[in-house]
Amino acid sequence: MIDLTEKIQEALNRQIGYEAYASSFYLALAYWCDDQALEGCKKFFLRQSDEERMHMLKIYEYMSESGVQPVTPEIARPPFSYDSIKDAFQRVFEQERKVTMAIHELLKLAISEGDYNTQHFLQWYVDEQREEEAVIRMILDRIKVIGEGGQSLYYIDKEVDKINMQVIAAEAAESKDQA
Ligand code: FEO
Repeated sequence: MIDLTEKIQEALNRQIGYEAYASSFYLALAYWCDDQALEGCKKFFLRQSDEERMHMLKIYEYMSESGVQPVTPEIARPPFSYDSIKDAFQRVFEQERKVTMAIHELLKLAISEGDYNTQHFLQWYVDEQREEEAVIRMILDRIKVIGEGGQSLYYIDKEVDKINMQVIAAEAAESKDQA
C-alpha cells in the first residue's frame, strides 16, 4: 500500500474531476460535429472522450491501489454549440492547456510532499498531455492552411479523420511495444 497525503488525495480527486469534464466536453463536441455532418471530427472527439475517461479511471485505480477511495465528481455541463470548427478546436486547445497546467501543479505538489510514487504515476500524464497538445496544434495549423467556408469544411473533416487514424495507429504501436 502507498501512503498518499491528504493534500495529494485532494489534488488527485480534483484531477479526476478535470478528466471527467474533459470526457464530457469531447462527447458534447462529438455530437455538435454530428449535427454539422462532420463525421471525421465526430470520430476524433468520440475517441478522445474515451481516452479522457481512461485518464480518469487510471486515477481511480491508482488511489484504490493506495488504499484510498476516490471521490466521484460532479461534472459541469460543457458548451452546447460552437461558432465554427476552428472555434471548437481552439476551445479544445485551451481546455487541454488547463489540464496540462493542472497536471504540472499536481506534480509540483508530489515533489514538495516527497511522494515518489505519485511523481512516477504522473509522468505518464505529462507525456500524454504533450502528445495531445501537439495533435490539436497540428489540426489548428491544418485548418489555417485549408481555410474555412463551405468546401473547406469537407477537407478539414477529411484531414481530422486522417489525423485520428494516425493517432489510433500510433497508440496501437505503442501498446504493442509495451506488451
Ligand atoms: Fe486527460 Fe486531455 O486531459
